[in-house]
Amino acid sequence: MSHHLLTVDSLNRESVDHLLRVAARMEPIAQRRQVSRVLEGAVLGNLFFEASTRTRVSFNAAFCRLGGSVCDTTGFTFSSMAKGESLYDTSRVMSGYCDAIVMRHPDQGSVAEFAAATNVPVINGGDGPGEHPSQALLDLYTIDKEFQRLGKRLSGAHILLTGDLKFGRTVHSLIKLLSLYDPLRITLVSPPGLEMPATLIDLVTSRGHRIEQRESLASDFADLDVVYTTRIQKERFTDEMNESFQGLSDDFMVNRDFLDHRCNQSTIVMHPLPRDSRPGANDLNVNLNGDPRLAIFRQTDNGIPMRMAIFATLLNVDELIEQDVRPV
Ligand code: CP
Repeated sequence: MSHHLLTVDSLNRESVDHLLRVAARMEPIAQRRQVSRVLEGAVLGNLFFEASTRTRVSFNAAFCRLGGSVCDTTGFTFSSMAKGESLYDTSRVMSGYCDAIVMRHPDQGSVAEFAAATNVPVINGGDGPGEHPSQALLDLYTIDKEFQRLGKRLSGAHILLTGDLKFGRTVHSLIKLLSLYDPLRITLVSPPGLEMPATLIDLVTSRGHRIEQRESLASDFADLDVVYTTRIQKERFTDEMNESFQGLSDDFMVNRDFLDHRCNQSTIVMHPLPRDSRPGANDLNVNLNGDPRLAIFRQTDNGIPMRMAIFATLLNVDELIEQDVRPV
């Protein structure tokens, strides 16, 4: 694993399996049944220049759970970037204050540009439509845990990725991460104009996975193991797309009808969240709340142990947990 976590491309099967194991070890500490102070004295810089609830707060909580402290800034307005400061200068300055930095920024490639100016480990918390590697890691950790509970194996599983596959950075990272594993069957369904980039389809196919693209959810998914749906990222639309987009039809909606009539009793439903609950958004339907197949809140919970594992590994304290940990 490289010094930074900017893209899933820096991970291989061995480093991902290591993170999954460390995340599992972090569970009792994440739930405060045990305490560890391996990051005591360390400071995290949490820089979010785009809206976030889960990523910002869970990175913060994960660092604190290991005994560290967090400094943060949210939005351009409250950063000196509003006065014209460059990514380079911001990075050099923050490096003198912090031991690790998490950054979210609306421009693809901006977090890598920031990381190039510092030796402090930088984690990409989402760069525009680019990548969101920690989300993909917690998604894979969730699939692994759900499959263990259900007695399933990842090898040969059928996974549906649906919604906004063009701008949804979580699915860009996730499909690359999944492609490190044994051959899978991956089905892609997105509204016209919001398809998965061809470069990613080519990459995953070249690694031996079977990819099928369907036009809607109105077909048979009886052997489906996971449906992973994403919000339509209208904030990234061009003016032209905004004018032509008519809203999401029911044919793309993951709801009770889809799950009960097209899937099976063990299909798990995932979403990186937030889901858009405004009228007409047609995002993941709230009529699935309470269905045990809905894994979205188990998924958000899994963000803490996985982000603890990322910090522990990047800051080289993962081997110290066992000797440091104590009961509450
Ligand atoms: N999944 C995710 O990135 O959520 P936030 O935008 O709330 O951080």
